[in-house]
Amino acid sequence: MTDDLPAAERGKRAAAARALEFVEDGMKLGLGTGSTARWFVDLLAERIKAEGLRITGVPTSGRTRAQAAALGIPLATLDAAGWLDLTIDGADEFDADLNLVKGGGGALLQEKIVATACDRMVVIADPSKQVATLGAFPLPVELVRFGASATMRLIAALLEHHDVAGRDVTLRRGGGGPYISDEGNYIVDLGLGRIGDPARLNTDLNAIPGVVETGLFTGIASAVVVGNPDGTARVIEREL
Ligand code: 5RP
Repeated sequence: MTDDLPAAERGKRAAAARALEFVEDGMKLGLGTGSTARWFVDLLAERIKAEGLRITGVPTSGRTRAQAAALGIPLATLDAAGWLDLTIDGADEFDADLNLVKGGGGALLQEKIVATACDRMVVIADPSKQVATLGAFPLPVELVRFGASATMRLIAALLEHHDVAGRDVTLRRGGGGPYISDEGNYIVDLGLGRIGDPARLNTDLNAIPGVVETGLFTGIASAVVVGNPDGTARVIEREL
């Protein structure tokens, strides 16, 4: 039925299918955003129907909320759910320590809040997302709109003191103007090439007043499921 899918899509589907094995009856689940997470939500809905699982989903974006609601997955806000058992989400890049770059789809803020309000975050990815060093994918950073150009100047100045290979700061655009996140903020994409110290960069960026959050997830993911185009998948657990 979907065997004519591109290889990357088959890998994403394989990762999502393997991650479904982490789901147990009664769980409160964070539902990620993006094309890989979309596979997971589709397969989760099928499993709920087939097995009568009692699951409560907490979506990380309006897009995921709409998809999950259309598929009949019971949903709650994070405030109503309180704390989650498991979050399954995609990533733009991950390294050997399971540090992540996220936010290519613009949902990094809700994704990070949900991922840190749960017992376990599991990332689903195709093999192209695995990198030796983060930074080839532009790092998304969410900013409040007020004073955004000043905030961007502060970010550029901060990057002078970090181990990165590039220092490009670009306001994301979409829909004929600046891209606006679900939370009503701007996103800038940082063309860094290499991120030598992800944890330090995350801390320093978050110390700038206009920065709301960064797409660097360090010490959050506990495992990554890498799906292959042939339908197999392997689980990489973070060493503690
Ligand atoms: C959205 C995200 C996504 O998880 C990330 O962009 C990966 O997306 P995809 O699965 O489509 O490659 O962080 O904000």
